Amino acid sequence: MVNTEKFIEQAIAEIREKSHGKKVVMALSGGVDSSVCAELARRAIGENLISIYVDTGLMRKGETERIRELFSDLNLQVVEAGEEFFEALKGVIDPEEKRKVIGEKFIRIFEREAKKTKAAYLLQGTIYPDIIESEGGIKSHHNVGGLPYDIDFEGLIEPLIDLYKDEVRDVAGALGLPAEIQHRMPFPGPGLAVRCLGEVTPEKVEIAREANAIAEEELVEQFRPWQCFAAVIGLGTGVKGDVRLHGWIVAVRAVHSRDAMTADAIELPWPVMHKISSRITAEIHGVSRVVYDITPKPPATIEYE
Ligand code: XMP
Repeated sequence: MVNTEKFIEQAIAEIREKSHGKKVVMALSGGVDSSVCAELARRAIGENLISIYVDTGLMRKGETERIRELFSDLNLQVVEAGEEFFEALKGVIDPEEKRKVIGEKFIRIFEREAKKTKAAYLLQGTIYPDIIESEGGIKSHHNVGGLPYDIDFEGLIEPLIDLYKDEVRDVAGALGLPAEIQHRMPFPGPGLAVRCLGEVTPEKVEIAREANAIAEEELVEQFRPWQCFAAVIGLGTGVKGDVRLHGWIVAVRAVHSRDAMTADAIELPWPVMHKISSRITAEIHGVSRVVYDITPKPPATIEYE
């Protein structure tokens, strides 16, 4: 377990030393990793930190507005890029291809914006498990290694590189970040795109967004999961209002885990599952079926893609 006070002191010193009094740019997603990085950097270099938040159009419900509120004291630049992402994702079905397209697009947009800032250094919230999973070839994380950054950064600063997620959360607590951020569930960089199996369309993303919001409302407070979410996994037949409907199938997943390397599905009480299923089918147009995923990791992964 990391000594948080000591870590914070060292990380601030590291950021200060490695940035040599120059401007530093970072991609802020609002997740616990990038938020901790931003707070450390704010303390280390103040106004020299420029944070860029890219709204990919694949974010959760209300997320962009909330980020604006939460980080109003940072030098935050919000880039609206939903249309660009949907355009780039047209016809892309393969999960790894999807990640590559999103990672590449994200970087190009970030690059474009970062260039305007004239920053010398790039700050990234990469944590230890990101590296193991990428090296192990489990899946490509868009914030690890070999990035096609064209901008000439003088260097990369990664203060969280030795930490596990729970240690990052401890640091967030010690930094006094809001509990909402400290306990925030992990959310994949490619966002709701990996929660829409097959082609990513605005219709599917909207369904995933609403279903994720319902899953979170019903599960986060009561069960404190490592992660809970909903994914649009395909089409199936149903009956709504006496009419047969070829509607979307939504899968709900809620897991406990320590570090995302393994995970167990949470044994939800039947009435809770029943309420989620009723809400999703009643409140979201076009959904005909809801399933609850009980598979542990391994053999499944936490996300669907
Ligand atoms: P899996 O699905 O492999 O996920 O069991 C393990 C953890 O990582 C998150 N995840 C990602 N995070 N970029 C990220 O930043 C990604 O591409 C990505 N894919 C999965 C996932 O939500 C889980 O917490």
